[in-house]
Amino acid sequence: MSKTRNLPWVEKYRPEQLNDLISHTDIVSTITQFIKEDRLPHLLLYGPPGTGKTSTILAVAKQIYSPKEFSSMVLELNASDDRGIGIVRGQVLNFASTRTIFKSGFKLVILDEADAMTKDAQNALRRVIEKFTENTRFCIICNYLSKIIPALQSRCTRFRFGPLKTTQMVPRLQHVIAEESVTVTEAGMKALITLANGDMRRALNILQSTSMAYDLVDEDSVYNCVGHPLRQDIENIVNWLLNESFCKAYNNILEMKTAKGLALQDILSEVHTYIHRVDMPVKVQIHLLIKMAEIEHRLASGTNERIQLSALVASFQTARELVCHDSLRVSS
Ligand SMILES: Nc1ncnc2c1ncn2[C@@H]1O[C@H](COP(=O)(O)OP(=O)(O)OP(=O)(O)O)[C@@H](O)[C@H]1O
Ligand SMILES: [Mg+2]
Repeated sequence: MSKTRNLPWVEKYRPEQLNDLISHTDIVSTITQFIKEDRLPHLLLYGPPGTGKTSTILAVAKQIYSPKEFSSMVLELNASDDRGIGIVRGQVLNFASTRTIFKSGFKLVILDEADAMTKDAQNALRRVIEKFTENTRFCIICNYLSKIIPALQSRCTRFRFGPLKTTQMVPRLQHVIAEESVTVTEAGMKALITLANGDMRRALNILQSTSMAYDLVDEDSVYNCVGHPLRQDIENIVNWLLNESFCKAYNNILEMKTAKGLALQDILSEVHTYIHRVDMPVKVQIHLLIKMAEIEHRLASGTNERIQLSALVASFQTARELVCHDSLRVSS
């Protein structure tokens, strides 16, 4: 217990065995079956961050090998290692080509975060995989399947790790909450799930940092902790955008942004969902959505936040003019 006390919760609560994984039961049971029949193919695990890819393969490795064998039978490379062709020709080839002494079974090469591997390295791997299939299995893990060359994809059995569902995350979070004796309100839990967006690592990280900063993990403390705008903030912002003059709306939002340290990107995405819910003429809604999409695009390329904020306020001003025009035409 004392050894694990200082670990971040994502590591402390990393599933140890395949059974501990809270999701993708079909994938887990397929892999378990492979292991049972001693017919593990080369694997390719892909999907968004924090969905259990690394945990799954580590659990597989722990199931196959005893702790003593682990270091000699498993080679784990991740993005912190060099990902060029050199590593394939050197470390990987070396590991794969040496015979196993203690165990008759195969060795396992885990290439985690393989998105970062160069094309040359991937090409070099093609032959290595084929040549040493007899005594080595490869597991390639990545976020984007498109970053892996088709020739490698076709040599592996592919499994997609989708984002985790709310129903899967809640019990696991509750388990951590009980173990760590944190007080979390229902709205706080909802906020955690919303912000995590299917990423269990993010959920655990937010839970940990919020519980360290606040005694009670509720909606406000969660949003405050990650610097995400509160629902009340967004209501105020939309209110200013729809009802105040250009100057006042701009200044108010800027003031709130600075005081609370909010990012325009977060404000924009929250206002965006709000706009979808507000009842307004379709033409005006479309105008706003297109403008907001443009602003988001520009923000993503690193433009000045103040200029983009004024563009946001301006787009609402023109939207209001559109509404006035329409209502004038109807009344005349
Ligand atoms: N399916 C799951 N069941 C239980 N815990 C999970 C699951 N997925 C993720 N977690 C939690 O999130 C943490 C991160 O998971 P993991 O390292 O397996 O993600 P990953 O899919 O490899 O992500 P990345 O693509 O960013 O490397 C784990 O330590 C664990 O605490
Ligand atoms: Mg990983």
